[in-house]
Amino acid sequence: MKLSVKIEKATTKDFNEIYEIEIMSYETPWPKEMFVMDYLFNGKSEYFVARWMKKVIGFIGLWDEGDKLHIVNIAVHPDYRKKGVGKKLIEFAIKKAKKAHKNEIYLEVRKTNKIAQALYSKLGFEIREELENYYNNNENGYLMRKVINEYFRN
Ligand SMILES: CC(C)(COP(=O)(O)OP(=O)(O)OC[C@H]1O[C@@H](n2cnc3c(N)ncnc32)[C@H](O)[C@@H]1OP(=O)(O)O)[C@@H](O)C(=O)NCCC(=O)NCCS
Repeated sequence: MKLSVKIEKATTKDFNEIYEIEIMSYETPWPKEMFVMDYLFNGKSEYFVARWMKKVIGFIGLWDEGDKLHIVNIAVHPDYRKKGVGKKLIEFAIKKAKKAHKNEIYLEVRKTNKIAQALYSKLGFEIREELENYYNNNENGYLMRKVINEYFRN
């Protein structure tokens, strides 16, 4: 069953819930301070939450990098996965990139994270390059991107 969630800009109050989802989702989560610093002081970052019945059940972090939109973090609460929430969050980011006339939207993903890769492929992201020892356990990553403006495909 798909959940009908609302995607909203995150507020400072949302960060406890965001962080709970982060630690349930990653073996090596970002430290909480890093999150809050990024949210408060990085002028190019924006966070959005997926809210269902007032509860934060997923989030996405985006960096505006000029002609590109970078998805730096996305996670859905384990109890609410496989209900279309991740897809909604990525679709939201794609729409935002289109509205802002970006040339592309991109992200990094662990080579072993086939679930996330399936989600991104489904929404038109393609593997652009392999990133050697990108993660702290020396795992390789993939850079995946979706071209928004075909004129700038390279
Ligand atoms: C990746 C993640 C965000 C997906 O969120 P989600 O809400 O469960 O995803 P959705 O329900 O929107 O699924 C969308 C598509 O992703 C793929 N997918 C999702 N879960 C899957 C699973 N367990 N197995 C295989 N494919 C899966 C499917 O293609 C699915 O499409 P379908 O529903 O038509 O089959 C979630 O699994 C998560 O938070 N993982 C931990 C954090 C993480 O890995 N983040 C990405 C880092 S790059």
